[in-house]
This record gives sequence, structure tokens and C-alpha cells, in this order.
Amino acid sequence: MATKIYITSALEHVEDEVKISGWLYNKTHKGKLIFLMIRDGTGIIQGVIFKNDIPEDIFEKCLHLPQESSLELTGKVVADKRAKGGAELQVKDVKIVQEAQEYPISPKEHGVDFLMDHRHLWLRSSKQHAILKIRHEIIKAARDYFDDLGFTLVDAPIFTPAACEGTTTLFETDYFDQKAYLTQSGQLYMEAGAMAFGKVYCFGPTFRAEKSKTRRHLTEFWMIEPEVAYCDLNQDMDLAEGMVEFIVRRVLKNRQQELEILERDVSLLEKIVRPFPRLHYNEAAKILQDAKADFVYGDDFGGGDETIISNKFDKPVMITHYPAQVKAFYMKADPEQPDHALCVDMLAPEGYGEIIGGGQREDDLDILLKKIKAHNLPEEAFKWYIDLRKYGSVPHAGFGMGIERTVAWICGLNHIRETIPFPRTIYRLYP
Ligand code: 4AD
Ligand code: MG
Repeated sequence: MATKIYITSALEHVEDEVKISGWLYNKTHKGKLIFLMIRDGTGIIQGVIFKNDIPEDIFEKCLHLPQESSLELTGKVVADKRAKGGAELQVKDVKIVQEAQEYPISPKEHGVDFLMDHRHLWLRSSKQHAILKIRHEIIKAARDYFDDLGFTLVDAPIFTPAACEGTTTLFETDYFDQKAYLTQSGQLYMEAGAMAFGKVYCFGPTFRAEKSKTRRHLTEFWMIEPEVAYCDLNQDMDLAEGMVEFIVRRVLKNRQQELEILERDVSLLEKIVRPFPRLHYNEAAKILQDAKADFVYGDDFGGGDETIISNKFDKPVMITHYPAQVKAFYMKADPEQPDHALCVDMLAPEGYGEIIGGGQREDDLDILLKKIKAHNLPEEAFKWYIDLRKYGSVPHAGFGMGIERTVAWICGLNHIRETIPFPRTIYRLYP
């Protein structure tokens, strides 16, 4: 009896009789031989069929089998240094599970819109496959980093009555007889979690009605958000740079093949070693002024500004102390210069821009109340959040890392849309 194996483990089964279940990726033939490239999600292997080994009608069928037909091959694994993955399969039996219709995605160039309309199929191609494998690795690494440091995962709700990141990008929905929003960030709930567990994080989808069409914005994206009690801005930055270094190392170690498929210059990723440069907002503003960028002191940095700044460094750079007026209501003011916030944005190198936003939170009850008023936020919806400043308030800090922006940078992609299995943008809800 043939053992059923996955292609990734083929080398452990040299000379064994095995069965591989997959899909036809490519095929060629020459005389009495057909070469079928089979993929099963774990890898690709070449199956070699010799005409005399299988019934004539099956051989004929295989000759004309369309790409993406599903099939099971039985045969012997033989080591072959020239073959992809170091082995090939000498096929003794073929079971065609389904003969596919003509596959719409061919090796010829397709436009991005066409490919995005066929995203459910496009996921099968090697580049998309590599990106999503790296995405998985990044998520796993981020979670391992916090788990190893003793953080507790505390899931934040998706429906919420409170805006965290300003009221202009809220998705509103009817919640029985109330109004609810899709969450923009789990942060406020993590602050409650930190006061209960000390060190917490959440990982989940977040939503923003981003009306601008850019290479960096999705309307639905995933964030990992740690929050730590008794933590200041500097300790928060230590945590963030430690996490990013850990993630990059993990990807370099475990996803070499995928990085190769993406033709990623790994020498640039190998430079991602702590410490990362830390820059005051004023120093970053100076870089922009020296570069004659169209930037006004006191403003937030735009995508173009971030590119100019991050291009100056070969490591991620952490920019602190933005003017309080361009940041969210919960940011703690710098006691030395109260119109600047104790906040940090981490910009990825190679012009990728912001991947992390975070900082120290306002822990004083009266100041927080004033800020909620100043931002015109409904006090009622924040009653529970204000409670956290009444019952054992402590200095605390945290951050959020956008998974998709991080995937785009580590994979070296020029657009965020390929970093998530099914992207959602202002113009895309299908498939
Ligand atoms: O800087 P942001 O808005 O910070 C927060 O939401 C904080 N409440 C997080 C925290 O402190 N717990 O967003 C954090 C990160 C950004 O740096 C970026 O990587 C990502 O989320 N992000 C987006 N990614 C894709 N599409 C969008 N529209 C994004 N908006 C933010
Ligand atoms: Mg931000």
C-alpha cells in the first residue's frame, strides 16, 4: 500500500511507494513520457509518467489535462539533484479527481484588476503563495514574541460604541436600537486588560473607512497590539524594536525559499538589528526641510514625507514626540513640552513608511476628561475607559503594528493589496 505524503516531505520517502494528492501546475511531454508538475500547497514535485506504465486512455487524458485539474498520483519517489526539491515521482497510477475547465490565469501578463477579480484563484500562484506563507510566519513570530515574554492574549471586541482613532474613518452599523462602529483598534480595551493582567496583547482585524486610494491603506487590516502597565515611552520602544528584530530574524530563518521566490534582497533584512535609530519629531522635520519637501512644521507626516525620512536609514526608525494636535486623544503629553505627545511611530526602511504607531497613554483623570471634551467625543461611550483612571491608574504604554504593512516591507512589495488573502479597499469588496 502506498503511503499518502505531502510533497514537502518527499525527500524523507526516497524509494518508497507513495500517493500525492494535488493539482496540476504545469505539464510537458516528450515521446512516451509526460512530465506533470503537481502542487499540493506544501510544495511542487514533478511526476514522470511512462506510457507503458499506465492504461492507454489515462495516458491520453493526462496528455490533454488542463492546468489546475485535481489528481492523485501514486508512484515511487526517486532522488534527483536536478529536480526542484531534490526528488521526483515515477508515476505508476493516476487518478483524475476533476478535469478542470480552462483556467483563466495563464502565464501571460494579466492586469492587477483582472488578477484581483480572480483573487480566489490567484492565491494558487507561487508568488502569492510565498507572500501568504511569510504573512503566516510574521503573525506566528509576533505572537511567539509576546507569549515568550509572558503576555496574555486578551481579545478585543469588533463592535464598539467608542471611536479610538478619530471619527473620520468610522464604519457605522445598526446595533439593534443603538449605533455601533467596527473597531479601529483594540487599544482602549487592552488598557483595561493591562490593568488586570499587567502585560497583554490582542491580535485581530481592524476597520477604517479610508477614502484615499494609496499603496498603504486597506479598509480592513490586522493589527497586533500589546499594552503594558507600569511602562513608559522608552520601554515601549524597546519592546517594539525587540519585536521587529525577532520577526525579521524568524522570517530569514524559516522562509528562505519564499524570500527567494519573491527575489527579496535579504542582505537588507539582515541589517535589521537593534538598536534602531530614535528621532524626535523636530529632527525628522529638519530632514524634510533640508530635502525641501512640501511639509509644514507642526503637521503630521504624509506618505511621501515618511518615504523621504525612512530612506535615510537602513533600519526602521522610531520618531517620537509628534505635536499633540495631530495625534489621538489618549496620548500623554510630554511634561517637558506639553504640546508634544509621548508617542512613537516606527517607519520601515526602503521608503516603506509607518508600520507601528503607539506610545504612552494619558493616565491622569482630569487631563483625560479635558481631552475627550476637546476632541468632541461622547463622554458616555468612554465611561468605562475613564474608570481605568479612577481605580489604580498607572503609567502605561503600548503600540499597534499593522500586519499588512509589515508583510509588504519584509516581502519587498510595492503595494499593500497582495499582503492579505482577500483585500478590502474603497473600490474592492469582491471576491
Ligand atoms: O497608528 P495607528 O492608527 O495606531 C493605532 O491604532 C493605535 N491605537 C495602536 C495602539 O497603540 N495600540 O495604527 C497602527 C498601525 C499603523 O502603524 C499601520 O501599520 C496600521 O496600523 N494601519 C493600517 N494598515 C493598513 N491600512 C490602513 N488603513 C491602516 N491604518 C493603520
Ligand atoms: Mg499612525
